[in-house]
Amino acid sequence: MQSCDIDTHQVNIVLTTDEEIRDLNFRFRKIDAATNVLSFPFEEPDDSSVHLFSQKELGDIVISFDRAVQESQTYNQPLQQRLNWLIVHGLLHLIGYDHERSEKDAEIMLKKEHDLLNEYKNQRSVLMPHLAVNVDHVATIREARGINEPDPVTAAAICELAGAQGIVVHLREDRRHIQDRDVKILRETVKTKLNLEMGAAQEIIEFALDLKPDMVTLVPEKRKELTTEGGLNIVSQKKKIARTIGKMTKANIPVSLFIDPDLKQIKAAADVGATFVEIHTGAYADATNESLQFDEFELIRTAAEEAHLLGLRVNAGHGLGYTNTAAIAAIDPIEELSIGHAIISRSVFSGLEQAVRDMCEIVESGSFY
Ligand code: PXP
Repeated sequence: MQSCDIDTHQVNIVLTTDEEIRDLNFRFRKIDAATNVLSFPFEEPDDSSVHLFSQKELGDIVISFDRAVQESQTYNQPLQQRLNWLIVHGLLHLIGYDHERSEKDAEIMLKKEHDLLNEYKNQRSVLMPHLAVNVDHVATIREARGINEPDPVTAAAICELAGAQGIVVHLREDRRHIQDRDVKILRETVKTKLNLEMGAAQEIIEFALDLKPDMVTLVPEKRKELTTEGGLNIVSQKKKIARTIGKMTKANIPVSLFIDPDLKQIKAAADVGATFVEIHTGAYADATNESLQFDEFELIRTAAEEAHLLGLRVNAGHGLGYTNTAAIAAIDPIEELSIGHAIISRSVFSGLEQAVRDMCEIVESGSFY
């Protein structure tokens, strides 16, 4: 409202149902259909009673909550952001913008809407999220042949040139993909940020302390799993994790804990002194219908907000791809998304540089919702 010079006015925002908004649409506009938002500018009464109002009134914005939920699912957009858009849209109608008047008016209103939402976006409590690319999958292909190509070190350089702001590798105890040599060279060549994913095994801890990556992400590790399957259970191994964090902290290596979007784990992560949590997005990515995906999304959003309130920095990742990342990128406290499989898969067809550029664009556009 400040950006529209109307912050001296009061606006009433009413959330209602599809049925009620349809009724209003018919009564006031003779349109017999539900809609997402209606604006009713304040009409000054003829008599002097207007002086009884303590604040100047701008009018009412009526939003169908049913429709907002439906649209947020259709556009794979967080509900909060859909509501922001509806409020901005309704507010502009209240102050005289009207996209139905003419094409020119529609253009003007769209631009103003975009500018206001951008301004709102820039008020995120953290900056736009970064894309960190996990290059393990390149090493997996190399190890399948047991030769020296494709090289994850070359892949990391291409990712950085294409706009990735971090490189992630998981040095597993069984060395099934990334090798010690890869991590050592990456330490020398990565220009952005090297995030070493690892289990809390003594041998790997010593390797990390020696290598000094820009950060480590502790993950649970099982020999037989295809990829990291679930988040860490911090609650059940607080002492062990706190000890590992203590060692890393002494070496100035920030620690992130990979956890499910579970408030108990978030709280435990704060208790053991982690700097970051990485919220596991696997269940969201694997959801088989929109409703389940929406529920998983809400868990991630709530967990991210809770972690931020507890002073933790927040990353997210696992299973994210070209169709489900924008909504996660739009969650306010999330600073970085760690994505591997989808990017390396697409690179087979489009080239790695293009695949990274495409994902960078999605991560950035997500923060515009
Ligand atoms: N974050 C963590 C902790 C992981 O273990 C992985 C997989 O290695 C990823 C992110 C990336 O997952 P994906 O390859 O599915 O994008």
